[in-house]
Amino acid sequence: MKIAIPKERRPGETRVAASPEVVRKFVGLGLDVAVEKGAGAAASISDEEFKAAGATIVKDAKSCFGNADIVLKIQPPVIAKEAAKNELGMIKKGAVLAARLDAVSNKADVNAYAKAGITAFAMELMPRISRAQSMDVLSSQSNLAGYKAVFDGANEFGSAFPMMMTSAGTVPPAKVFVMGVGVAGLQAIATAKRLGAVVTATDVRPATKEQVASLGGKFLEVDPEMEKDAETEGGYAKEMPPEYFEKQKAKVAEHIKSQDIVITTALIPGRAAPVLVTGDMVKTMKLGSVIVDLAVEAGGNCPLSQLGKVVTKHGVKIVGHENVPGRLAKDASMLFAKNLFNFLSPHVDKESKSLKLNWEDETVTGTCVTKDGKVVHPMLTGDK
Ligand code: NAI
Repeated sequence: MKIAIPKERRPGETRVAASPEVVRKFVGLGLDVAVEKGAGAAASISDEEFKAAGATIVKDAKSCFGNADIVLKIQPPVIAKEAAKNELGMIKKGAVLAARLDAVSNKADVNAYAKAGITAFAMELMPRISRAQSMDVLSSQSNLAGYKAVFDGANEFGSAFPMMMTSAGTVPPAKVFVMGVGVAGLQAIATAKRLGAVVTATDVRPATKEQVASLGGKFLEVDPEMEKDAETEGGYAKEMPPEYFEKQKAKVAEHIKSQDIVITTALIPGRAAPVLVTGDMVKTMKLGSVIVDLAVEAGGNCPLSQLGKVVTKHGVKIVGHENVPGRLAKDASMLFAKNLFNFLSPHVDKESKSLKLNWEDETVTGTCVTKDGKVVHPMLTGDK
């Protein structure tokens, strides 16, 4: 069985869906791995490293996708009229595709996968169960994004993070406020603390209160009564009622005036990101303070943030980098690749050295979006 690791072609994508370690593991299971020439270059992984791990390096996309039984990618395959650019057209009928597909917001693409006869797995739909933690690409990538957000903020900030007592005077510690304490938010709190900042944080899910305290941060509480019902069974946040947002706005508006760096990470699956820092709040912030909006790709937690840009509004720098995990491309690739391996390897039959998917396994049924020429996921067929 052949696995294809193509070079990612979407603009701004630096990651690759394999690491030498993962190639070695797949080869150890008896699978052939073909890596497209230069696929790891933007993630500082050379063709030689892939080759030494047991991969075959192939010259272009066509020879990489061609005949592959399994295609592993970071981004959804490109669908284009021009044959040389049409990645989907290069994938053979019956092949398995596993990648972050953003399937719920890309329904037309999902229909095209079905039409092409591909068995496609949307890794972002991985169920949030303990067993699947090691397969969760949202989690592995958010963790890195949370870390990087602190440095992106620090880069734009004209003062230091830790308190410094020098003979010339005392530099006060930076005040960092993290909004949304999921995987990214927790890592941002931990990173900012390590750098010496004074950290506060807020979230709608009550479980986060203790997590913030355990990392040495102070929790900004909005309304514990309303927050009792803020979490879905899957561990995600629910959309909160307007009255909650009014209360949250009042609390945040007061708090944000004294903050130096605000890192926003709040997301609600399948919806636009909630607005947490309004334009009016930005006006009240200190000159030179910084907002890092990690939710910018989902519409942003601050309406003034712009995708892919660092802008200054009312004297506040607002950072809206795209694909933040891709700014740590080597680590992000390594973790993403491991997530893919952890997902697929339990289904590799040792005797026949081929993929025999267990359709009783909820990590398989929970992520499969197309099979046998049909769209099958309940979130896409309207059954959920
Ligand atoms: P996320 O990326 O969907 O959202 C980020 C954070 O924003 C969440 O903590 C959410 O509660 C918060 N948020 C949403 N709306 C908000 C609002 N209006 N105001 C303030 N905060 C708001 O969440 P993420 O990082 O994916 O994690 C969600 C949960 O899932 C966490 O408890 C995490 O530990 C858990 N998880 C479980 C996994 C597993 O068991 N396999 C894997 C990954 C995460």
